[in-house]
Amino acid sequence: MDVVGKHLPVMLDRCVELLAPALDRQGAIMVDGTLGLGGHAEALLRSLPGVTVVGIDRDAEALALAATRLETFRKRFIAHHAEFDDIEGALARVGAQRADGILLDLGVSSLQIDEAERGFSYSQDAPLDMRMDRGGSRTAADVLRDEPEEEIVRILKEYGEERYARRIARAIVRRREVSPLARSGELVGLIRASIPAAARSEGGNPAKRTFQALRIAVNDELILLGTTLPRAVARLAVGGRIVVLSYHSLEDRLVKRTLVEASEVRAPRGMPVIREEDRPYLRLLVKGAEKASEAEVEANPRSRSVRLRAAERIREGWAA
Ligand SMILES: C[S@@+](CC[C@H](N)C(=O)[O-])C[C@H]1O[C@@H](n2cnc3c(N)ncnc32)[C@H](O)[C@@H]1O
Repeated sequence: MDVVGKHLPVMLDRCVELLAPALDRQGAIMVDGTLGLGGHAEALLRSLPGVTVVGIDRDAEALALAATRLETFRKRFIAHHAEFDDIEGALARVGAQRADGILLDLGVSSLQIDEAERGFSYSQDAPLDMRMDRGGSRTAADVLRDEPEEEIVRILKEYGEERYARRIARAIVRRREVSPLARSGELVGLIRASIPAAARSEGGNPAKRTFQALRIAVNDELILLGTTLPRAVARLAVGGRIVVLSYHSLEDRLVKRTLVEASEVRAPRGMPVIREEDRPYLRLLVKGAEKASEAEVEANPRSRSVRLRAAERIREGWAA
């Protein structure tokens, strides 16, 4: 099967269901900030005949594959090679200022994981690259060669929740004094050797957390998400909807903070009248964060860690 056919979009029906009320009219504009292989975009284009989708991705290869997949919809689909904080630029491509729908399906695509030479996978030996945008600046090998030990500890602890962050960072620094790590296989070997023997067989591959942490650091994933969320809310039309799928607790925390804050009344509790400027900008569409069903997790293991949050813009005045 080809890469496009093999990829299963996460919580697909739920995303369409949540976005559809804002997109079900002629001329509606949808920004898919994480186009990937275009799975969500295709479902939206198929079920909502009046919508135009601008698909953003920083990965030129994913954009090209998605553009081929969405060829039938070429009059209603535009690919935009950028970071997802460029929602303004994406909207400008279709002469719009506001979006009726915005989707962020965070993290890496199955294309990126499956292509061994991109270095995202701990199960295949490859150069330690991990850049989503291959034109981007630093690779995972650069991070491991250049960052001070304390920063490597922080990355592994914060982004990977790695218990043995200090031991692994120490081993990386010792090793680079001889020669820098260049390949994923070398890093996997080093991680195995630096953690206690009993931990080597606990809870899956012991390299998993370090690889996730490095990927997040190389691609500045949390920094970009933090700047993008308020901008996304600012670019939503009143009545427009945003859906975000996160796969990491730190991502979900950022999403929760922005969406929940914007959906709260700003005045102190008990005020008899709520002033216009204190009214919320958003209405939450789901209670808390939704998870994938057991059946979906069974069919698509990637959906195991997903947390979906969604909101609707209910008034003007939000400035990012
Ligand atoms: C999980 S995949 C999206 C899959 C897509 N929803 C589908 O159904 O095929 C995430 C995609 O977002 C892209 N991406 C992640 N962070 C990005 C960012 N900051 N700016 C632009 N694209 C980003 C990745 O390159 C990847 O292709």
